Amino acid sequence: MDRPVKRNGFAGGLGFILAAAGSAVGLGNLWSFPYKTSKNGGAAFVFVYIFSVIILGLIVMIAEIYLGKRAQANSITAYKKVNKNLGWLGLLSIVGPFMVLCYYTVLGGYTVKFAMNSFSDNSTIMQTFSGNTGEVVLYSALFMILSVLVVTGGVKNGIEKACKVLMPILFVIMVCIVVYCLFLGEGVSDGLKYYLAPDFSALGFDGILAAMSQAFFSLSVGMGIMISYGSYTGKNINVGKSAVWIAVFDTIVALLAGLAVFPTIFHYQAETGIQLQNNGIVLMFSSLPIVFKSLGPVGNIVSFFFFGMVSIAAVTSMISMLEVATQFFIQKFRIKRKKAIAIVGGVGFAFAVPIGISLGFALTGKEKMMLAGNNLLDVFDIIVTNVIIPICAIGACIALGWFTYKSNSAKEALSCRKLSSNLQEEGLKLGKVGLLFSFMLKYAAPILIGVIEVFGIIDIVFPSVSGTRTFSMNGLILVLIALVIMIVCAVIYFVFLKNKETGTNEDEVVIQEEAEKEEEEKEEAAVQE
Ligand code: PFF
Repeated sequence: MDRPVKRNGFAGGLGFILAAAGSAVGLGNLWSFPYKTSKNGGAAFVFVYIFSVIILGLIVMIAEIYLGKRAQANSITAYKKVNKNLGWLGLLSIVGPFMVLCYYTVLGGYTVKFAMNSFSDNSTIMQTFSGNTGEVVLYSALFMILSVLVVTGGVKNGIEKACKVLMPILFVIMVCIVVYCLFLGEGVSDGLKYYLAPDFSALGFDGILAAMSQAFFSLSVGMGIMISYGSYTGKNINVGKSAVWIAVFDTIVALLAGLAVFPTIFHYQAETGIQLQNNGIVLMFSSLPIVFKSLGPVGNIVSFFFFGMVSIAAVTSMISMLEVATQFFIQKFRIKRKKAIAIVGGVGFAFAVPIGISLGFALTGKEKMMLAGNNLLDVFDIIVTNVIIPICAIGACIALGWFTYKSNSAKEALSCRKLSSNLQEEGLKLGKVGLLFSFMLKYAAPILIGVIEVFGIIDIVFPSVSGTRTFSMNGLILVLIALVIMIVCAVIYFVFLKNKETGTNEDEVVIQEEAEKEEEEKEEAAVQE
């Protein structure tokens, strides 16, 4: 008798959208979006950012969700199903979010600390806290444990349930905080002007690059996240519509964060002497706490809700990063979820500790534990956001646009029209925009992202120092490290994974059933004795 295949994944479309939006909305929106905006010409940056979300981010997101959905498997298997030689991109898409996970653990620990410390004075603790290794490790561990607990519950009972509860809470707190900030009075309009009046002279080419990479990071694309979450969706989900919802939600939260931060900083500038800082970590963990302090007892409550909200956003992103590698370990090594998450969380934490210490040194002005002139957090961040994410994003476009379907004749490449109708037939229903999507997927997106990638790398190796570009040895070292990571992924893939089974989502169901059976047998044996 045919056994109905039990699907391992999200219970419904809304659950998927909220989980993916949970991954997208994170420190990138609440923390780096406002400071990058302030550094790069306010609304001019926002404009390029939104443009990048629509014409690049959305295309890559649809491609990734769809690659996952059609494979119903981890990202290595998903790429392999398209073409065996592309599987190494799947491995790179697992390594990328894993690297982010390592430093996200530390920053997540900071947000938990600041939330819990809201009823004491948060305004002066950034330096003492960051320099206190024991405490940093403790809070990072707390943050990691919280996230691991969610992922242990599985996709439907852990990730989906948590996001269904946490995302609405996050949104409500966000809206309340924005309304509160907009009614602060004096200075609010200056803040809004600063945020919403474009200054294109402050944007520059660096700003355009920053906006595009911020869009990718914020949407969680180019990182295997959407492949993994997409693989847990069922037949009746509409990939295009879901992607639009996720992108809209992510962008709204980023814009709201700006609406809260700029008026507040301008309102309190005279009273507290704080300045708009271009350094994100100072803005969130030093400037805002000074503002909260000046509000008196109400400030403690606002601070609690603010940092609570940031912690929630960080947890729902962190679980997606943990899931990508966990999914692969379960399926490749046929181990139980608990064991897989223990390995991923444990190794991630082992990296987080030196990153936390290195960041502490940097924030307390000590030049220790640096690599290529940067603290370890920045090293990881630069490598992932400037090199690995764009490569994986191009990979997703090329895999779906060029390798998934064959053209009828060997000489001619598959036309956009044919690609569009193939996608439509197979289940990626994009209606009227199908043809435009196919063109963007095949040509525009990979070329544009490729250009960003090249300029991004030039920018690292030849940074512009007061208007002139100079060679940076440290920059070159960072690019070489990224290159080594990619080569190692390719070697591991071609030697150990290409011709071996790498598993699918069904494996987890089977593993669970086997474990349950074993348990039952043990119980029966015990009763018989
Ligand atoms: N998109 C998240 C943010 O904006 O903070 C960050 C993120 C999530 C990065 C998932 C990487 C990732 F794999």
